[in-house]
Amino acid sequence: MERYLTDLFIASAEDQHLRAPRWMIRTYLSLFGPPLAKSLRIDMVKGFLRGQDLRGKRILDVGCGIGDLAFMLSRRGAEVIGVELDPAKVASANQIAEKWHFDHVRFIAADVAHLEAMGLGQFDAVFCLALLEHVPDDIGLLRQIQALLRPGGLFVMDVPNAKRKTIAEVEEADGHQRPGYIFEEVPDLLANAGLHVTKQRTMDPWGLIYYWWAASRPGSKRERWLYTALAPVFLPLIRVTSVISKRPGTELCFMAVKD
Ligand SMILES: C[S@@+](CC[C@H](N)C(=O)[O-])C[C@H]1O[C@@H](n2cnc3c(N)ncnc32)[C@H](O)[C@@H]1O
Repeated sequence: MERYLTDLFIASAEDQHLRAPRWMIRTYLSLFGPPLAKSLRIDMVKGFLRGQDLRGKRILDVGCGIGDLAFMLSRRGAEVIGVELDPAKVASANQIAEKWHFDHVRFIAADVAHLEAMGLGQFDAVFCLALLEHVPDDIGLLRQIQALLRPGGLFVMDVPNAKRKTIAEVEEADGHQRPGYIFEEVPDLLANAGLHVTKQRTMDPWGLIYYWWAASRPGSKRERWLYTALAPVFLPLIRVTSVISKRPGTELCFMAVKD
């Protein structure tokens, strides 16, 4: 595992209020790798990008969180800008970028509702993972993204499945504007914004992430850690079921090109 990832996931654990000692997080990460949903989401994106040369490409990551994806894309030679609403996440991401000499990554604290007005220039690709459900005007954001893409530019998006089982408390805390999207309807939504779907994937057809969340959410800090520690059991199960069953799962992922 690359060394910057430890700092990244310690920041991520702090963000999720998993206040365990750093040595414990470090040991866990070195044994099992990054947390559950994030690693599955990044896996789906990596699947889409297989064989793509990202060297020298200008990439925008909207709603970048603490920068997991941006750092991964930068390691593959891209020049990445991450835009994120939460200044604390941006500060964490910029600190990690500086410490580990990511010279071609920049994080900006801003609301993506004003993306076009930010004067960021044109991009070869835009990524939007687990963000669209947070944004009141989703089609407006997709149109702004389309305008920022060069002709033939790539758009990669991950959204939750509206039909999945959810936990109201988690949804509210996460600031979701809507439960998610219907797999079959997303290509039309993207087409309305001038984006043409070329690849689509889904993950977790049996909704196992729900059970993991449901088990880990309430209760004491110790219980939460116990279930967090169970992520390595859920991970292979979700990977296997995602291969066995093609029915739309918890997360839906799309790759599109600008028409
Ligand atoms: C579920 S997290 C996903 C983070 C990251 N993309 C990932 O896949 O791990 C959603 C992120 O979008 C950010 N966000 C929500 N609304 C936003 C907005 N209007 N502008 C910019 N970022 C926003 C949140 O602060 C949060 O960090």
